[in-house]
Amino acid sequence: MPDAPTYWDYLRLDKLLDLQGGVEDDETQHLPDELLFIVVHQTYELWFKLILRSLRAARDSLAQPLVDEQTVPTVAHHLRRINSTLRLGVHQFEVMETLAPQDFLAFRDKLVPSSGFQSFQMREIEILMGLEDAARLRYGGVDPLQHINDTAHDTPAGRLAQQRIADARAERTMLAVLHDWLYRTPIMGSTPSDSGDDQVIQAFVDDYLDRLAQGHTANLERLVETLGLQHADSMKSRFDRLVTAARSFLDASDVDPGLRRRIRRVRAAALFIESYRRLPLLAWPRLLLDLVVEMEEQLVLWRHRHARMVERLIGRRVGTGGSGGVEYLDKTGAYRVFRDLWAIRTVLLPAHNLPELRDPDYYRFIASRNG
Ligand code: HEM
Repeated sequence: MPDAPTYWDYLRLDKLLDLQGGVEDDETQHLPDELLFIVVHQTYELWFKLILRSLRAARDSLAQPLVDEQTVPTVAHHLRRINSTLRLGVHQFEVMETLAPQDFLAFRDKLVPSSGFQSFQMREIEILMGLEDAARLRYGGVDPLQHINDTAHDTPAGRLAQQRIADARAERTMLAVLHDWLYRTPIMGSTPSDSGDDQVIQAFVDDYLDRLAQGHTANLERLVETLGLQHADSMKSRFDRLVTAARSFLDASDVDPGLRRRIRRVRAAALFIESYRRLPLLAWPRLLLDLVVEMEEQLVLWRHRHARMVERLIGRRVGTGGSGGVEYLDKTGAYRVFRDLWAIRTVLLPAHNLPELRDPDYYRFIASRNG
């Protein structure tokens, strides 16, 4: 590159603008709108590249053994960029929808059996966020990650796809790192290494659940009063089920006994942060959790939006990758990685009914603690 960079040299525009040749590696062979199809896909893959960079940066900052007050905003900064990018991605499908269904059919067969199903960067995003293998849908018995391995030919891109999946699987996930951080969070001023921490957590959870049950009883009474007694039994059992589910969630009785203590503390910490979010030291952690939920929400919206765009273009056809098409894509909309963060919303109490805070000084900024 010459000494004084130009816009076109810096961005390697000669290379970039020569990458839209498609199967024939020749744009003159394109059918109408094939350029649109390629450019939209390539643009998404570039955004995925940026999302992966930001996801790793967020994870690495949060993975430090001691995440100080300055680091949490750094994590939030990276998450915000991911969320903006995903939000843009949700809207970007609009451009693809300018493709008429019939014009797509003119070149669709050329693509078989390739498919967005082979987007290894999307799989990396899922893996790095922490989507479990067991949660991943299979079609025709085929595991999506295995599919990439099985279809990757011995080409530079094929080798890259295999390598990138293998590398991502060896990395720590955002979910694991977030759990470590939540696990260490002081709850009611108590940390995991403090003696009596288990009792503090248990007392917090018990108090919380009692208040939740009382709140539900009051709601039930109000509903029965306004709607009449004939619904009382079914409504009561609905509220009872909510409280039972809340207890089993906070007791972590759904997880392996070996992991129960850790997950119990993780869930209690998320609930604690969300509940006492007005405390100075919890304001940023709460924002961080909210950005993680937003990240997942945007990815879910991306999946839904992609599915609607697909339905508009190909209806209920079988996908070029051989899946059930829209039916398969709609099922992927149910994926959730950060399930605990979603679940605490069902348990959360209003601020005026929270258990009394132990050791409120602990959660002030250091300057105001001294002053
Ligand atoms: C005409 C436009 C498009 C159509 C008709 C379409 C169709 C499909 C279908 C039917 C699938 C399911 C797998 C299969 O059987 O092929 C799929 C998967 C996928 N597509 Fe698209 N797609 C389109 C555009 C895009 C774009 C622009 C992207 C952006 C990168 C994209 C990314 C993906 C991804 C990541 C998957 C895997 C989803 C998963 O398994 O969770 N697609 N697509």
